[in-house]
Parts: sequence; C-alpha cells; structure tokens
Amino acid sequence: MPVTALVSAKSSGVTTSALALTLASGRPSLLAECDPAGGTIRAGLLEGEAGAGYGLYHLAAAERTSQEALAQAFASHLWDMDEAGHRKLLLGLTDPAQAASLSRTWPSLSQMLHVLAEAGLDVVIDAGRIAFNAGELHPTLTPAPLIHQADLVLLVVRGTEQSLTLARHIIKPLRNELTDRGNGPGALGLLLIEDGPNRAHQVAEALETPVLAALPHDPATAAYLTNGGRQPRGYSRSPLLLHARTATEQLEAVASRRQIQQQYPPQKTSPQLAGVLHRLNAKRERGRRV
Ligand SMILES: Nc1ncnc2c1ncn2[C@@H]1O[C@H](COP(=O)(O)OP(=O)(O)OP(=O)(O)O)[C@@H](O)[C@H]1O
Ligand SMILES: [Mg+2]
Repeated sequence: MPVTALVSAKSSGVTTSALALTLASGRPSLLAECDPAGGTIRAGLLEGEAGAGYGLYHLAAAERTSQEALAQAFASHLWDMDEAGHRKLLLGLTDPAQAASLSRTWPSLSQMLHVLAEAGLDVVIDAGRIAFNAGELHPTLTPAPLIHQADLVLLVVRGTEQSLTLARHIIKPLRNELTDRGNGPGALGLLLIEDGPNRAHQVAEALETPVLAALPHDPATAAYLTNGGRQPRGYSRSPLLLHARTATEQLEAVASRRQIQQQYPPQKTSPQLAGVLHRLNAKRERGRRV
C-alpha cells in the first residue's frame, strides 16, 4: 500500500484529511503525525488522552541508542485509534523546538513506514506546511526525507483563490525537489478540499498538477476530527469519511500504477529497521493474550 505524505502551503486541512484517510481506509492504516510545527491530534481528537510520554519525540532518543532501539520504540509508541488495533497513530511533537532533534531520525522512520506499507498498511504522513531554504526543503521546518521517499506527495488545497494563490508559489519548487531528491515529479498531486468556487479541473489547470483525490467541505465532521468532543450524528456515514474511503482507493490505484512504471530504485531497508514489523505483530499477540 502507498506511503502518502500530505503537505500544505498554509493550514488547508492537512491534519484533518490525514485523519479522515486513516480512519476511513478499508485496510489497516497508520497515521504518522510528523508536522515539525507540532502535533495537534493529542490535544484535539484525543482530548489529551495520550500523555506526553507517547509519540514521535521519543524516537529521536531511541535512534541515538541503536536502530533496534528505534524499531522497538516505534512499535511501542504507536497509539491504537480503534479496539482492534487496525488504525494506528504515531503522535506528533508536543513542542516545535523538538523538531531539530528529529532531523537524524527521519530517514530511519521513513524506512520503517515503507516496511509497514509493504506489509499492507495504508500509511499517511502529516508532513505539515512546506518551507524552503535556499531552494531546497527546509531541513528542520519540514520532514524532508519523509517527503522525498513518499510514494505520493499530496499538496492539500482548497478551491478558494487564497488557497490557490499560496499553492502557486510552492508547487514548482516542490516538483523540482521531488525530481532532484525525491521519488520523481509524478509523485506530486493535489488533494482538493471542495471549498470555494474552483472545481477540480480548474484547480488542476491553475496549478498544472493533477487532482488525485478530493474531499468534501464537511464542517461538522472536520470539527470533530480537529477538536474531538461528541461525534456528530451520522459520523461514520458522513460525507467526509465516505469520500475519504473512496480517496484511499484512488490513491492506491495511482500509486500502484506508478510503481509499475517506476524508474527510481527502491530504498534499501536495514534489517534492524525491518524488524519493526515483527515487533508490531509481537505486540499485537501480547495484547490478545491479556
Ligand atoms: N474537509 C473539511 N471540511 C470542512 N472543514 C475542514 C475540512 N478539513 C479541514 N477543515 C477545517 O479547517 C481547519 C484547518 O484544518 P487542519 O487543522 O486540518 O489544517 P492543517 O493544514 O493541518 O493546518 P496547520 O498547518 O495549522 O496544522 C480546521 O478548523 C478544520 O476543522
Ligand atoms: Mg495540521
């Protein structure tokens, strides 16, 4: 299954869309909240249920010990979003100042996410807002290695003039970045939030980039995914979740088509990091026994 990284020019719905895709997928799924500006799901949807002892920041310390320690920490820091453990969440940073300590960890984290995707999980990365430094992805304000290695990089845009204006400035450097250092220009697409007057074909034309999926403007479901609280009535059949499910199918189809035509060599995975799958399965078995 694909590793899909969602990014934005500015606050367009990345976290909400990442949650919707992860929760609605017809396959087991994992959301990695890797926005260097800090995670919002812990205080939002989870309403503080997960303490600061959980999450991405702890992987940086483990990585300094060994790759085995990192694989172990990764497996034990995943939060189950459902009882069956089919929807996993790697919670984001509690403080943006922690982002610098992760720059060494991103490449290894990327390898582990790809191991899980190959094992059949839909992997979605919240990669936050795009920032450039001297024409390249900013090394601490973006999780650049995750974006480079993702099978699909989706710029989340709304159909409003404001959103398109901001997106116009970053689409070209982002495409160049993926061409020079990533998985190729074809990895780049748009995820349209259907808000504003521009339809998918107009957005695709304006940004000269295909719209690979679209999600409806659904304020009630989005507010629940952003802030938590009571689930709105008809939540599981809500427009946002229904369309998110369709979107996961469309993204999977695009990614597998690309894989067939792929000219880029697959990244090498260290055996220690590949062990993450075994650790995750072992954790699930232990969970069943208690
Ligand atoms: N499909 C949608 N329909 C309606 N509202 C939405 C939708 N997606 C997101 N929103 C709302 O837009 C706001 C911003 O969403 P979100 O926090 O997901 O954006 P973001 O790109 O992650 O922002 P940031 O860069 O600040 O982290 C939130 O109030 C959210 O509820
Ligand atoms: Mg966000």
